[in-house]
Amino acid sequence: MEMASARRTAATRARQSDDQIVVWGACVLLSALSLLLLVAVSSSGFGAARLTFAAGEISVLVRVGTSSSGGSAVDNVELCGADGDEYDRMLVDGEWVRDDARRPLYEPWQCPFVDEGFRCRENGRPDDAFAKWRWQPRHCSLPRFDAKHLLETLRNRRLVFVGDSIGRNQWESMLCMLATAVAGDDEASIYEESGSPITKHKGALSFRFRDYNCTVEHHRSPYLLRRGRPPRRAPRHVASTLQLDAIDSRARRWKDADVLVFNTGHWWSHERLQQLHCYFQEGKKLRLDMSIEAAYERAMGTLTDWVHREVSSYKTLVIFRTYSPAHTRASNSGGCASETLPELNSSRISLHRWPGMVTPAFEKSGTAAAATAGRLHVLNITLMAAQRRDGHPSVYNVAAAARTPAAQRADCSHWCLPGVPDAWNELLYALILRRFS
Ligand SMILES: *[C@@H]1O[C@H](CO)[C@@H](O)[C@H](O)[C@H]1NC(C)=O
Ligand SMILES: *[C@@H]1O[C@H](CO)[C@@H](O)[C@H](O)[C@H]1NC(C)=O
Ligand SMILES: *[C@@H]1O[C@H](CO)[C@@H](O)[C@H](O)[C@H]1NC(C)=O
Repeated sequence: MEMASARRTAATRARQSDDQIVVWGACVLLSALSLLLLVAVSSSGFGAARLTFAAGEISVLVRVGTSSSGGSAVDNVELCGADGDEYDRMLVDGEWVRDDARRPLYEPWQCPFVDEGFRCRENGRPDDAFAKWRWQPRHCSLPRFDAKHLLETLRNRRLVFVGDSIGRNQWESMLCMLATAVAGDDEASIYEESGSPITKHKGALSFRFRDYNCTVEHHRSPYLLRRGRPPRRAPRHVASTLQLDAIDSRARRWKDADVLVFNTGHWWSHERLQQLHCYFQEGKKLRLDMSIEAAYERAMGTLTDWVHREVSSYKTLVIFRTYSPAHTRASNSGGCASETLPELNSSRISLHRWPGMVTPAFEKSGTAAAATAGRLHVLNITLMAAQRRDGHPSVYNVAAAARTPAAQRADCSHWCLPGVPDAWNELLYALILRRFS
């Protein structure tokens, strides 16, 4: 952690233009309530997801990598390569392969960028196999992750993650993966641009890799949409609204990114919306009885339209990383606690309990979506993540010393690092290389 604080103190230059300060002022006001609520509920495991699984419990078909090259025969298959949507689908059609020789990609105690909540081993998790699986596409092989090569590819560029705390989980994984290419003795070479520590997340954090002039950023926007005050004469219980036809008002901070990775999902639940006293709105009209599924569908249309209208397809690679399933009420064996192995047989997994999150929302949003074809890559990690209920922090989401049985709520939504999000980032790596090199 010495390294972390040195890196932080090295970065004290916070220079925001007046323009940004006005935007920030507005958004801080608007989201103050939700930030408070976020703090209040962040230990409660985001009880949003409603996935269940086929009745059968885990069947284990462990394939342990034997040789130092990883062991899987599929390794010899040629690198993934195909056109557009086909390529996106090819990447996520595959299986988890145990690979003790090449996993994990980084050691958590050498990476200062991981939230305490994701530091499972340091928080006392006894098993470590969850960090040793890699994703293997069925019909091709992934480029082997090379942090230096990715940094070179990102030179003079911005890699921006926008979404909820699962997106932040993925962003922290990416920072750790990239940091392995930076000499450990040069502590000022990666720093947060405004000097904020990684734990103080008020909207956005941007880490700069000095020698590559590139930034890897996370912008918090759990719905991706604009949230604001209800229209006049709205019922009193309506404290705020989600504007289904408008993108988050901070979007102009992201839109010039070179790689833009969206995610959403966990906040689209009755529980969360009720906590926020937040209701849907379209134009000036409140939509008090609109279903979450319909609203989500509408939101994806809004996002697609925005990408089409505002984002340059020449400059920016736009990716939507799909819903990351939580295993909160997944099984009568108690969610994700004490799971140590993935479900390797994907046909035993049923995604039906959360239809709104898994229907191909992007295809239904009409003409705009058609026009955007090829612009918005859908990185569909839903099924592969659903196979990994062993990957969540569970009760190892706080330091052992701070753990009290009474107050403890297991986290079956986020992921341990190193772990599952590293695999998403390897897919992202494949997409970035394909686009920029
Ligand atoms: C650093 O990257 C930014 C884009 O993110 C670019 O505008 C700027 O010119 C780069 N600076 C140098 C010195 O290359
Ligand atoms: C995977 O699960 C399905 C459904 O339970 C079953 O029919 C199939 O035989 C399983 N496959 C393997 C390889 O075990
Ligand atoms: C993602 O894949 C699952 C099956 O693996 C599918 O049911 C779902 O519709 C897909 N989601 C999107 C947004 O394409």
